[in-house]
Amino acid sequence: MVQATPFLLVLSLALLAPGLSARKCDLTGLWVNDLGSNMTIATVNGKGNFAGSYHTAVTASSNKIQVSPLQGSQKLSSQKSYPTFGFTVNWSFSDSVTVFTGQCFMDEKGEEVLKTTWLLRSHADNINDDWKSVLVGTNVFKRPQLRSRKE
Ligand code: BTN
Repeated sequence: MVQATPFLLVLSLALLAPGLSARKCDLTGLWVNDLGSNMTIATVNGKGNFAGSYHTAVTASSNKIQVSPLQGSQKLSSQKSYPTFGFTVNWSFSDSVTVFTGQCFMDEKGEEVLKTTWLLRSHADNINDDWKSVLVGTNVFKRPQLRSRKE
């Protein structure tokens, strides 16, 4: 029995350790990015497709911001813990469309983070203005911090 204790200790560490470092990222739920934009992703289906809504904090247009639909997909096939994904936001209040692509990671605190790159395509009034119709940038999304209730 005395000899069994170290063996059990090593066995449980060997079983638990990989699980601790490889917690899976899950795209579903609420996200907030470095600009203060909010995004909600509903269930990811069996094919890796998902839909959701996006409330941008900023706009390149002069229109009033409205919550807009998004549609995307993530890689499932390899069953990787940190999936790559892409989604499109079809802005309800402007003639623009934004595509995001990125990957979900776990940061050093063990919290999920989405590192994304986006292209924002705005409407060009004529073909000569096409060259100035795309903006590119990056956004980092994290889970919103829950506010503690004041006494
Ligand atoms: C528009 O201005 O026509 C639509 C809104 C675009 C908002 C952009 S998309 C990339 C960047 N990330 C955000 O969260 N908002 C801006």
